[in-house]
Amino acid sequence: MQVLRIKAMDTHPIRHKILRPNGTLDDCVFQGDNDELTFHLGAFVDKKLVSVASFYFENSSNFDDAYQYRLRGMATLPEYHGQGLSSSLLRTAFPVIKQNQCTLLWCNAREKAIGFYEKVGFKAVGELFPIPHIGKHILMSIKID
Ligand SMILES: CC(C)(COP(=O)(O)OP(=O)(O)OC[C@H]1O[C@@H](n2cnc3c(N)ncnc32)[C@H](O)[C@@H]1OP(=O)(O)O)[C@@H](O)C(=O)NCCC(=O)NCCS
Repeated sequence: MQVLRIKAMDTHPIRHKILRPNGTLDDCVFQGDNDELTFHLGAFVDKKLVSVASFYFENSSNFDDAYQYRLRGMATLPEYHGQGLSSSLLRTAFPVIKQNQCTLLWCNAREKAIGFYEKVGFKAVGELFPIPHIGKHILMSIKID
């Protein structure tokens, strides 16, 4: 398995298949995808891209940290679940986020993925809330030090 930096457009097929199966490819383009401080990581198995995650220099007012990153578009193809791919993407991202002077990574976690984020060290904040057409989410964060 190899973790590499990828382009925003490389994430779209997996985002579409796993995160927006009922949406269009346009729904797989996220705000800030091509911003200078945004980065996208992919895990490759036998040269095939099978897991993606994207990181945006974006603050949430729920946290005091002056500089924060936001995680979006975290997804692994089902046949590759449980092989440590998403956690490898996060482990690769942490030093990059730190290098960019940020001390916190946050995300709106899907209810089904809460267990995954907890295993990696994220903590939930507040209550579940709905995101239309996608389902219940909860704000989660992890300190980067
Ligand atoms: C959540 C998701 C990204 C995890 O990807 P993955 O590559 O399978 O994750 P990993 O293999 O790195 O998992 C790390 C650990 O978390 C556990 N884990 C993974 N998904 C879990 C879940 N939904 N609930 C509880 N634990 C989970 C794994 O078993 C593993 O545990 P271990 O360290 O004891 O072996 C993947 O299940 C997925 O793509 N789900 C659908 C899309 C989604 O919900 N994305 C999140 C959007 S917020």
